[in-house]
Amino acid sequence: MRVQVVDHPLVAHKLTVLRDAKTESPTFRRLADELVTLLAYEATRGARVEPQEISTPVATTTGVKLASPKPLVVPILRAGLGMLDGMTRLLPTAEVGFLGMVRDEETLQASTYAHRLPDDLSGRQCYVLDPMLATGGTLVAAIRYLFEIGATDVTAVCLLAAPEGLDVVTSSFGADAPITVVTAAVDERLDENGYIVPGLGDAGDRLYG
Ligand code: PRP
Repeated sequence: MRVQVVDHPLVAHKLTVLRDAKTESPTFRRLADELVTLLAYEATRGARVEPQEISTPVATTTGVKLASPKPLVVPILRAGLGMLDGMTRLLPTAEVGFLGMVRDEETLQASTYAHRLPDDLSGRQCYVLDPMLATGGTLVAAIRYLFEIGATDVTAVCLLAAPEGLDVVTSSFGADAPITVVTAAVDERLDENGYIVPGLGDAGDRLYG
């Protein structure tokens, strides 16, 4: 598994405003959207392309186009929905599937309450969108499901990650698993309620109230 922390002043600036408890939902939503687009640029660095012949007004040349099959973007409801537009802005031809998952506030166990995905993801590059990687339970369950239906590699785009959650993903799939986590920051730790510290609070609540 590879972890990529996107080190860029605009990412750090937008994340700082998102962390601020005084930032209200409309601004939070807009900044989360902008931040995802910056993360998506890095997350798609490994996107597969194939050659394409084109004619410019001057000559013919060989460029590239996204390879088939199309990539799949999977926001994890509810909070991941706030990341979808930011991602598809860079990957407008991607297919979109949905996973609805919720973490029990007491046990911190993730459970799936909805899924709408293609039956077979063989050969697909998959991008999972979830703002918070806290204990890692949600992301592990999501990735396991995508691998079960044929995904070859999974890139998770997270606004924030906790070291504990990254360790859980690594130990669940192994260090060599075809998984990349792209995030704006790896924070200090989780608190006793499973919140990322310093974090930004509950992303779902801050996006959708
Ligand atoms: C939050 C967050 C992640 C999950 C992370 O979702 O959006 O999906 O918790 O926690 P974990 O790494 O410990 O599993 P939540 O369950 O609050 O649902 P919501 O998106 O509907 O608000």
